[in-house]
Amino acid sequence: MFQLDESLTALDKTSFYKELHVQTEHLLYGERDMIANLANVASLLYHSFSEVNWAGFYLWKENELVLGPFNGKPACVRIASGRGVCGAAVERRATVVVEDVEAFPGHIACDSASRSEIVIPLLHNGALLGVLDIDSPVHSRFDNDDKQGLERLVEIVLASFV
Ligand code: SME
Repeated sequence: MFQLDESLTALDKTSFYKELHVQTEHLLYGERDMIANLANVASLLYHSFSEVNWAGFYLWKENELVLGPFNGKPACVRIASGRGVCGAAVERRATVVVEDVEAFPGHIACDSASRSEIVIPLLHNGALLGVLDIDSPVHSRFDNDDKQGLERLVEIVLASFV
């Protein structure tokens, strides 16, 4: 059985992401089912981060994002390219860090508690597979260290099933 180490939040960001990457590799080891792996990673992220109220995936299907495995409150199901923070990450094919969601034009409020957000595209050989979206009830929760740490995490997740 996988043991979730909830003491991770006590670590500085560099150590936190180092540990989180190791835990992700252990969690996904030997399993190649995409939905199972995304579901387990969404749970791992939700339970490992402090000050996070939503963590999960949207999958790119027939030219729009469709809700995938997540932890948190029920969320909007379909997001078009260019809409909200997720759609911006799709359009730019790049990570988007939003310090204040209320100041982001077109932000889609799935949970009114959300104040800041980070969205990382899932890209494989240039093809878009979806996005990882994490929301926080705290302003400016995510910075460049989170961007780098989560981009590496997405690489580990992708390698588990593509
Ligand atoms: N806030 C996102 C929508 C998804 S929910 O936060 C889960 C956005 O603006 O794209």
